[in-house]
Amino acid sequence: MGVKRLYIETLGCAMNVRDSEHIVAELTRKEGYETTDTLEEADLILINTCSVREKPVHKLFSEIGAFNKRRKPGAKIGVCGCTASHLGEEIIKKAPFVDFVLGARNVSKITEVLHRPGAVEVDIDHDESRYAFGDFRANPYKAYVNISIGCDKQCTFCIVPHTRGEEISIPAELIIREAKKAAESGAKEIFLLGQNVNNYGRRFSGDHPRVTFTDLLKMVSEIDAVERIRFTSPHPLHMDDDFLREFATNPKICKSMHMPLQSGSTRILKAMKRGYTKEWFLERAQKLREMAPGVTIGTDIIVAFPGETEEDFEDTMEVLERVRFEQVFSFKYSPRPLTPAKDYEGQVPDEVGSARLSRLQARHNEILDELKAQRLGEVHDVYFEELRPGGTVAGRSDNNLAISVKGSEELLGKTVKVRIVEPGRTAHRGEVVA
Ligand code: SAH
Ligand code: F3S
Repeated sequence: MGVKRLYIETLGCAMNVRDSEHIVAELTRKEGYETTDTLEEADLILINTCSVREKPVHKLFSEIGAFNKRRKPGAKIGVCGCTASHLGEEIIKKAPFVDFVLGARNVSKITEVLHRPGAVEVDIDHDESRYAFGDFRANPYKAYVNISIGCDKQCTFCIVPHTRGEEISIPAELIIREAKKAAESGAKEIFLLGQNVNNYGRRFSGDHPRVTFTDLLKMVSEIDAVERIRFTSPHPLHMDDDFLREFATNPKICKSMHMPLQSGSTRILKAMKRGYTKEWFLERAQKLREMAPGVTIGTDIIVAFPGETEEDFEDTMEVLERVRFEQVFSFKYSPRPLTPAKDYEGQVPDEVGSARLSRLQARHNEILDELKAQRLGEVHDVYFEELRPGGTVAGRSDNNLAISVKGSEELLGKTVKVRIVEPGRTAHRGEVVA
């Protein structure tokens, strides 16, 4: 029998990227699959879905319909991830050609559902916090390492707690073992992943000594082969002084922080159940900039949450102005099933939401243009991780600026001094400093 081929498409966040790596690892180790980029030659077609906003859900059905037409005879199609979790068997009802559905918290069952036609495994109480997945990394130079599964927050707009279930921390010794293995095989950058990383250690399954996220950061940084540590996403509420101090003073922790704001209005933050105020957020961001000079701050913002008035939106604009985020992911509020906010009064008309989003993005682009002038000529230590077409190699500075230079694969996996010669809004061109 020839090799079996797997085509896998991944949508959504870094956690989905890691889940897909786990799926590939399991299918390689236990079923002898190899990955392919050509859908038509695949024996198994998987789509790892995101359900955080509504648009990708619509896209899913048209996309799997297209997969169905292009698949070779006998090839299986599986739907995985967060949309699989919340739609469950509805997927097979709507698209009967789908062979199985595997939820975001059921990744370890992939080799089992593969052999059960019509299987729907979407149990959000399933605990795979101690499951030892096989090894597979899409990029050998940087390693995603999960530190928790699920999320215990109940942000009123967010479907994730309903697709990934309650939060359980992965035992620290498993994380350390994984980080060590990855770093020793060449991934000098370790990227710790969780929905709410700085809540780490609140609940383990089974007995486990107390370890906070700050402790975990220290432990990972003690691994010799690890040169850089990144993580996403921390929650602004849990950014205590201890955490900020460790972040600022540990030389292996990259100086780039994601601080998901969501809204600048304390009233809206309360309706979102985010647990912090505008003032708390501003104070933490300012403290972070003081403690870690050169730090870049990224954020997520939702506009037009139910009940958001012009005045609330102005609060968000004010936080944008004061923090001057280096990176902003901004979204128009999207009502999601199973979430309380979808039933709130004061749903904001779509055109109002679109206008606010445009205004926010336009102002942020101006801020990025202002920052560009300051970037010109800056010298950064860039860790190169990706070959690009046209003889270009791309990497990131310690503070997460995307920088590319002319070069070839010999730069991959190396950290080199680079001067920015052509700054951009989101990516910069540089030259290696001889
Ligand atoms: N805890 C995760 C959040 C995952 S969702 C993290 O901190 O990364 C990623 C982002 O999607 C959120 O920060 C939020 O800005 C956005 N988002 C979530 N639900 C949304 C909704 N219903 N409408 C619009 N944007 C949403
Ligand atoms: Fe969602 Fe809030 Fe958790 S945004 S993933 S419920 S921290």
